[in-house]
Amino acid sequence: MDNIRIAMAKGRLAKQAVKLFRAADINIPEDMLSSRKLIFSLPEENLEIVLVKPADVPIYVEYGTADLGIVGKDTLLEENRDLYEVLDLQFGKCRFALAGLPGKKESLLQRKVATKYPDFTRRYFRSKGEPVEIIKLNGSIELAPLTGLADTILDIVQTGRTLKENGLVVYENIRQLSARLVVNKVSMKTSQVEITKIIDALENEVEGG
Ligand code: PRP
Repeated sequence: MDNIRIAMAKGRLAKQAVKLFRAADINIPEDMLSSRKLIFSLPEENLEIVLVKPADVPIYVEYGTADLGIVGKDTLLEENRDLYEVLDLQFGKCRFALAGLPGKKESLLQRKVATKYPDFTRRYFRSKGEPVEIIKLNGSIELAPLTGLADTILDIVQTGRTLKENGLVVYENIRQLSARLVVNKVSMKTSQVEITKIIDALENEVEGG
């Protein structure tokens, strides 16, 4: 039997994902998050975990290079890949919001929107019929309205601390986000038994926790 490969997003979500797997009796190696290794075998579980950048998780899963993936809904909405989203893991909860300087929201005729999520932003404003110019940034999005690069940002807000400490306010909450379990469409058929076992084990913990 082939191993099932899971692509796990490095960073914020990885720690909670490891906790969830352990709670489900899937024993992740102790050193996984402190090591620089990228591939981890769990021979007893017939599993292999690969650590990838969040935006690359849906790519590995769509191509079937990984059978399963753990990634934020923000990334799934941006990447818009062909895969099954099977489980809301109920951690990494945050939201997409539009934000900017206080008192400026209504005065913007032609918005410039800075974001790490240009594709989602384009679709969002297109669906509202509002013309915007989108500026793709790679981080520290809150700097854009402070420096005049853009007047609005579309970003994830978790605690709201980054906005607050930079004197910005939420203009509009767009949608809730959280970590998701995703599955390659072919693997779902060819390794149905093994994959269902993993989904069920994680689902039990999500529901129970
Ligand atoms: C994210 C996001 C916000 C912040 C929100 O950035 O882009 O800046 O977290 O969290 P908060 O509401 O709890 O303050 P991240 O830490 O991923 O860093 P980045 O600036 O490199 O994108």
